[in-house]
Amino acid sequence: MVKLILLRVSLALLLSAQLGSAYRLTCYFTNWAQYRPGLGRFKPDDIDPCLCTHLIYAFAGMRSNEIIITERNDVELYQAFNGLKNKNSQLQTLLAIGGWNFGTAPFTAMVSTPETRQTFIASVIKFLRQYEFDGLDFDWEYPGSRGSPPQDKHLFTVLVQEMREAFEQEAKQVNKPRLLVTAAVAAGISNIKSGYEIPQLSQYLDFIHVMTYDLHGSWEGYTGENSPLYKHPTDTGSNAYLNVAYAMDYWKGTGAPAEKLIVGFPAYGHTFILSNTSITGIAAPTSGAGPAGPYTRQDGFWAYYEICIFLENGATQAWGAPEGVPYAYQGNMWVGYDNVKSFNIKAQWLKQNNFGGAMVWAIDLDDFTGTFCDQGKFPLMSTLKSALGLQSASCTDPAQPVAPITPPLTGGSGSGSGNGSGSSSSEGSGFCAGKSNGLYPVVNNTHAFWRCLNGITYQQNCQAGLVFNPNCECCNWP
Ligand SMILES: *[C@@H]1O[C@H](CO)[C@@H](O)[C@H](O)[C@H]1NC(C)=O
Repeated sequence: MVKLILLRVSLALLLSAQLGSAYRLTCYFTNWAQYRPGLGRFKPDDIDPCLCTHLIYAFAGMRSNEIIITERNDVELYQAFNGLKNKNSQLQTLLAIGGWNFGTAPFTAMVSTPETRQTFIASVIKFLRQYEFDGLDFDWEYPGSRGSPPQDKHLFTVLVQEMREAFEQEAKQVNKPRLLVTAAVAAGISNIKSGYEIPQLSQYLDFIHVMTYDLHGSWEGYTGENSPLYKHPTDTGSNAYLNVAYAMDYWKGTGAPAEKLIVGFPAYGHTFILSNTSITGIAAPTSGAGPAGPYTRQDGFWAYYEICIFLENGATQAWGAPEGVPYAYQGNMWVGYDNVKSFNIKAQWLKQNNFGGAMVWAIDLDDFTGTFCDQGKFPLMSTLKSALGLQSASCTDPAQPVAPITPPLTGGSGSGSGNGSGSSSSEGSGFCAGKSNGLYPVVNNTHAFWRCLNGITYQQNCQAGLVFNPNCECCNWP
């Protein structure tokens, strides 16, 4: 008996030690994904609480130097988001403030005096505790750039130091674990140089989320990868810095501890219009951003699941061997992106270089429904979880079906009632009931098609200008 208890204790210790030493997998959630149509709509309840070690809610805003909500229903979503911790006791949540569209002016005003910084810090502590977040993630893009004056580089360090000290003091006062302070930081070398006092800043930050994506896009006038691991032979001069390895090594080499550095992984790609459809490789001339995706609805940008639609419709896939990431093209459309293979390669590289973990932008851009890519639910996130060796011993895995609670059958054997014998087989209804998996035309709507998966009906649309062709089960030019 005693032996058994000892065995159990040591097993638990071993297990917790293993979990404690694991890499971090940090996943951003965006509060505007709720407005995407149909299968693209994503809310906190769609998050698998067992995938990530840290979840970050994007974004909060600022008014009069205080942190505020940005969507009318944020408080409701905060509740669902932080409620995920009931399903995974080791999950930690942070609230990100700022973002690209937020700009720099409110940060510049807030850091400018000790009083305004204190106002902000006090508001953050109150806000995070009220809504049960475990920390704050600064998404100031960027101190010392985009309108932010040079002195903001130092003032950002001062702010983070003061916040860290205030968090430590508050934790003692209320006898709770200290709130975390992290930041999403630039991957471009000139933005890094003008924005961060790396050794000092790194001391106070718990984690540093390096945004190693958006490294190339249609603004350049030629095709390029969103997040290449290594440089392409055509990358010369300062273009040779625009890759994950260079940016991460720069942060590490200038004074950030490797274990605090979290490598950014994009679950999306950047799209381009080719100028000449017979020149389709890297650095091919382009005339602008590709058309918006049917769900994310933003020019030049496709979620991973929207890229799967493009591939399914017959786009040619190519592997960018020097850069370690794929690209695909069809007609004059071109996309540089990441997939399961590139996520695996980057995860191995991350481990070899002793970085602290992976960060993904964003969980709502992965194929979270599993209907577009034929790789199951959350294929990219799952790739990272397994590549980083993360276990979820503390987690109630929602992928495990919970025994359905059905009232006991009254009388008879229930034959023909449609109630199965316990094991739930997914019987769909609607158009796809009884049909085999595949794509089917929609009567009176050439632009749309049905996708049947295990009897479940999904309606999808071809990209703008394309119509569904049942012969190839693909979208094509009319
Ligand atoms: C497109 O590229 C091909 C191959 O380089 C070239 O032969 C052709 O002249 C180009 N077309 C145009 C319109 O520039």
